[in-house]
Amino acid sequence: MAHKTRVFSGVQPTGNLHLGNYLGAITRFVKLQADHDCLYCVVDLHAITTFQDPDELARNTREVTAAFIASGIDPARHIVFNQSQVSGHAELAWIFNCVARLGWLNRMTQFKEKAGKDREAASAGLYVYPNLMAADILLYHATHVPVGEDQKQHLELARDIAQKFNNDFAKTIARAGYPDGFFPLPEPLITGPATRVMSLRDGTRKMSKSEESDMTRINLTDDADLIAKKIKKAKTDPEPLPSEVKGLEARPEADNLVGIYAGLAEISKDDVLREFGGATFSKFKEALAELATARLTPIGDEMRQLLADPVEIDRILSDGARRAHDIADPILAKTKDIVGFIRS
Ligand code: AMP
Ligand code: TRP
Repeated sequence: MAHKTRVFSGVQPTGNLHLGNYLGAITRFVKLQADHDCLYCVVDLHAITTFQDPDELARNTREVTAAFIASGIDPARHIVFNQSQVSGHAELAWIFNCVARLGWLNRMTQFKEKAGKDREAASAGLYVYPNLMAADILLYHATHVPVGEDQKQHLELARDIAQKFNNDFAKTIARAGYPDGFFPLPEPLITGPATRVMSLRDGTRKMSKSEESDMTRINLTDDADLIAKKIKKAKTDPEPLPSEVKGLEARPEADNLVGIYAGLAEISKDDVLREFGGATFSKFKEALAELATARLTPIGDEMRQLLADPVEIDRILSDGARRAHDIADPILAKTKDIVGFIRS
């Protein structure tokens, strides 16, 4: 039996939502709504794998929710919720902690990056983070997962976990009536010209929420002046823009700005270079600042409006959590039967 198509993705409420989150993930989420059932989750359980101030965590959870809605996600037609309100995420993650192998987790590059040099001081949660991510997806039998390039390895691990669970429990899975496996193998959707947006000050580093300097990223809540200033100061090289994509090789900063333009304008990098090939960076940056401002400032404004009514945001999250429960509960119950847990 083929699994019904279902989209799931998550964003951590860790502050400083930026252009990378927007182009790599949120714009994709918006597009998928047209022909899929979607769940978009504010993953607060993931966020606390590194310490979060409790007041800020709550504020950031509402901020990600506001960003989803302001960007065009419809919480009435699809499901928007925060992870900790659906306990199945943590329950399934425990089962997956017992399915995933240490050897698999030891290969995760994000853990190595986030734990840094002092690995002994990293939380145990940070280490098993990818198992929780697999649980997020598989708790809903989701089949498609829109993410930025940096999540590709975690998606491969989620597939490995689904596969191993299906093999390990083949006997009871068949008995439960799923001859082709209980969990689908989820597919990453990593698409568009901006799946890996880089820092504005260093084209070899990813644009990131946690980077110290705010000048490295454009935040969704930046105003027009700040967006223009950050783009103007973005690092470039001295050559004019090339006329073809091949000419961007070995020019990481140029490649990044062209990718950002393409993502915002919803065209290809080839199209951008057809228009701007031969132009100086000062001319291109002016056009980019204008485009970025036109696309982003209405979202920032709408976010501020939504955040002025936190009661309404909390209502949306609890309504989403209730509907998420409706999908998750029977899947979790079946999972428990398959594993051999007795339930009344
Ligand atoms: P996070 O902020 O880590 O919760 O990421 C939320 C989503 O944004 C994930 O799908 C990431 O892959 C995506 N993302 C984060 N940073 C970037 C970036 N610099 N470029 C493209 N996508 C990104
Ligand atoms: N790990 C993802 C990130 O940091 C966030 C995330 C958590 C996620 N659970 C998920 C993404 C499930 C997609 C599906 O960006």
